Amino acid sequence: MDKTFSFGPYACRVRVVARDAIAESTENAFTIADTNTARFLPSGSASVVLPSGESAKSWERLHATLGAMLDADLTRDATVIAVGGGVVCDLAACAASLYMRGCGLVLVPSTLLAMVDAALGGKTGVNLGGYKNMVGTFYPAREVRICTPLLAGLPDREYTSGLAEVIKSGLLGDEPLVQMLEEHRDLVVGRDDALLTEIVWRCIEVKGALVEADLTEQNVRAHLNLGHTFAHALESVAGLGEWSHGEAVAWGIARAMELGRAVGLTDAAYAARVVALLRSYGYRIDPLPELARRIADAMRKDKKRRGASVRFVLQRSLGQTIVTEVDGRAVDSVLAGAGA
Ligand SMILES: NC(=O)c1ccc[n+]([C@@H]2O[C@H](COP(=O)([O-])OP(=O)(O)OC[C@H]3O[C@@H](n4cnc5c(N)ncnc54)[C@H](O)[C@@H]3O)[C@@H](O)[C@H]2O)c1
Repeated sequence: MDKTFSFGPYACRVRVVARDAIAESTENAFTIADTNTARFLPSGSASVVLPSGESAKSWERLHATLGAMLDADLTRDATVIAVGGGVVCDLAACAASLYMRGCGLVLVPSTLLAMVDAALGGKTGVNLGGYKNMVGTFYPAREVRICTPLLAGLPDREYTSGLAEVIKSGLLGDEPLVQMLEEHRDLVVGRDDALLTEIVWRCIEVKGALVEADLTEQNVRAHLNLGHTFAHALESVAGLGEWSHGEAVAWGIARAMELGRAVGLTDAAYAARVVALLRSYGYRIDPLPELARRIADAMRKDKKRRGASVRFVLQRSLGQTIVTEVDGRAVDSVLAGAGA
């Protein structure tokens, strides 16, 4: 599997590689990993080893990484090779986009979420002032290398978190992918490598097509936010660690189905199918009326901060996606558990 996408002015080659080819490079390479992924590099170490976890996606770490690139006398024709989850990919891509106004970038995503989402599409960034991704650039990798055997040792919770984005990708426009997830749950949960490669590739095709159409998220790229308006609000309200991003996305997709039903948009049989699929993978998708008020407030705060209206990604059916504003009473009613 090998395909080159056109993301605006950038060409991004995505290919499936063997375990020993993930860091294959030119001489002028600068490797970035974290404490859990440095072992995947042939030398067992990286030029920069970040601490694992979201806290590494900071301005200070970005600054230190750029400093290390300077100390290594990297020139503009150097290539940053990043091996890790979304945190490593986002920070390394941001550093690569800034260093000498942009050097080479190869991303080797090592979590399911990074394979199907973070490594593809050119969004880079770090967090600032307690807000996620406040500083960043659009800078697609020259190459993304997919190696699903890296997922063998990924903690279950991280894997399940990535699976929610896989389900989302299927809903956005890949009926055979949704069928695979429905019919082969045990193989998917058991991380069957051949199936996983096929699934990851299908997700890449879905995201790749949306980003090719709209690199800077002016229109259809926003479809990738299915479930995310609800998810972000839940994540900001729930205690740290209580909900992983993917768990919140699964919950958010279920709410988007209910909201779509409540406003007469979503086909009832389709919504029921999506809910059954999410349940079959064990996601918590019941409404949380006890958090309804706080979740609604979090959505409003987010709206204030971004200076935009609260927009929801809803679906009529599989692949029929719409970005729309919705009457606040319908949202409140869904959050209160009355929309089910
Ligand atoms: N740029 C984008 O388009 C985009 C899209 C979605 C998410 N993101 C970002 O991605 C980040 C989340 O990414 P994530 O979920 O991959 O989290 P992560 O990068 O924090 O990785 C999760 C954990 O798994 C560990 N890990 C990574 N690969 C491993 C492996 N193969 N085996 C064992 N452990 C491994 C990491 O060290 C970390 O502890 C967020 O910051 C989010 O904003 C970016």
